[in-house]
Amino acid sequence: MSLQAPSYIQHQKLIAWVAEVAALTKPAAIHWVDGSEAENRQLLAQMVAAGTLKQLNPEKRPNSYAAFSDPSDVARVEDRTFVCSEKREDAGPNNNWQAPAEMRGTLNGLFDGCMAGRTMYVIPFSMGPLGSPIAHIGIEITDSPYVVASMRIMTRMGRNVYEVLGSDGDFVPCVHSVGAPLAAGQADKPWPCNPDTKYIVHFPESREIWSYGSGYGGNALLGKKCFALRIASTMGRDQGWLAEHMLILGVENPKGEKSYVAAAFPSACGKTNFAMLIPPKTYDGWKVTTVGDDIAWIKPGQDGRLYAINPENGYFGVAPGTSEKSNPNAMAMLRENVIFTNVALTDDGDVWWEGMSKQAPAHLIDWQGKDWTPEIGKETGRKAAHPNARFTVSATQCPSLDAAWNDPAGVPISAFIFGGRRSSTVPLVFEAASWEEGVYLAATMGSETTAAAFGAQGVTRRDPFAMLPFCGYHMGDYFNHWLQMAGQLQQLPRIFCVNWFRTDKDGNFLWPGFGDNMRVLEWMVGRVQGQAEAQRNALGWVPEYSHLNWAGLDAFSAEHFAQLMALDPQAWQQELAAHDDWFAKLADRLPPQLAAHRSKLAAALAG
Ligand code: OXD
Ligand code: MN
Repeated sequence: MSLQAPSYIQHQKLIAWVAEVAALTKPAAIHWVDGSEAENRQLLAQMVAAGTLKQLNPEKRPNSYAAFSDPSDVARVEDRTFVCSEKREDAGPNNNWQAPAEMRGTLNGLFDGCMAGRTMYVIPFSMGPLGSPIAHIGIEITDSPYVVASMRIMTRMGRNVYEVLGSDGDFVPCVHSVGAPLAAGQADKPWPCNPDTKYIVHFPESREIWSYGSGYGGNALLGKKCFALRIASTMGRDQGWLAEHMLILGVENPKGEKSYVAAAFPSACGKTNFAMLIPPKTYDGWKVTTVGDDIAWIKPGQDGRLYAINPENGYFGVAPGTSEKSNPNAMAMLRENVIFTNVALTDDGDVWWEGMSKQAPAHLIDWQGKDWTPEIGKETGRKAAHPNARFTVSATQCPSLDAAWNDPAGVPISAFIFGGRRSSTVPLVFEAASWEEGVYLAATMGSETTAAAFGAQGVTRRDPFAMLPFCGYHMGDYFNHWLQMAGQLQQLPRIFCVNWFRTDKDGNFLWPGFGDNMRVLEWMVGRVQGQAEAQRNALGWVPEYSHLNWAGLDAFSAEHFAQLMALDPQAWQQELAAHDDWFAKLADRLPPQLAAHRSKLAAALAG
């Protein structure tokens, strides 16, 4: 095996690190990924030959592929995800922790020879526009060609990253293995992984990531959740910026006034749909544009405002539920050049997932390769696509892509929006009365769990800032960091909370959602621009029925709106008790301002 690095790589420390990882993992070959089109073609062809990818019918879905994972490897594995800070307290109760030395011992054992029989790929990538002062660089070593092809879509990946890195630039080292060494002559599985042993490990002090045993996106594309959220959140804490689980969108009104907002929702709460919202027909002259759908890196600018970039270069979105109704922009961007994972296949070589069309096709091959018909689905409850089936597609294919999405300076953020999936208790929208109150509301946000992570679904859990699975340090310190950020800024974004998911007593959604979320967005942006009216209540500032634009939604009565906005004192007593339980877990590092606001809120709700 030759270790010879290409001559365009001048970074000796990087080359030495690759040599060290190769000595440990013992791959059959090393491939220095350059990101070229020819290289990508070759990898895709290789994966088709190995059965990892199926090429879709080029007439239906040009240049697109489907991958099918091992049934044990379909989602992020939070119970196998670790933050190994030197001190346990620094990881906080929100993270699994192990002493770094002990974890390094375990990893050394697991990674020893783990790439045997495989090619080791070295992927240079930039999170954010190349050379942007808000961006940072990573190098991922992996033995999965699926990871290489996906990273090429999801990050700015390729040899020009080495130009930014120079001979001594900083990078986050990321090591990934599917954890399935191949003995000589042994045939590979289409989706190699380790069904029994998975470790997704972060060392926040040395800013390193080690991932073993999974090929699934959130565990294996290490630029995304591992770097851009868990490691970057610790970088942000230390360096005075924010790494957030937020979409970024632009809203332009008919007068051409434009505002950017960043919004945090837990996984599978419709973030991608909201980021690509198409306003209702009656919103003539309004435009919503997409900067990002999942992650925002936000740094203070010289003018004392916050500027955000989307560190990613593509979308790794949940396919089920995506349709012409819920997200026409996404459907358009998925027409070609897509890698799908765990979707169902139609008889004519295209893809299908639950929610794509009202009626399922008469016959499909499901994500596990079995025959599926609507009757089989009804009888067995089996879904054709896995509920966490995904698409991986370049941002440049998004019809609503914002003109500034690639601007190294980022876009100025005027508001933060926090939302959860709550069938009761939380109103459609309200605005925090101050930055501190907004931090309290985001810190106590709850959401009903979904299929994006392994585990029970439909249970309400606290998911502060939608960051619970992604904050790389103690959540109490994170709240404090948010409170402290105010001191660095001359102009604070406003903070709003939304809940698209409230239901009536029969479980029907009270709010139409999707494009109609524009009505709420218009009000929020109007607040920022000093144009929208509001009324004060115990939670903050809320719209009255007459403050929202109902054009085109004539049947939506004031009574219906009142149901959506209702504050039920009893439900809020329970809600506050849940805040107490949550804060008790963080007591050792909880900023006192939050406990103080809890008392104020209780008094206000008691009226
Ligand atoms: C995601 C997630 O994949 O939040 O974006 O799980
Ligand atoms: Mn996410």
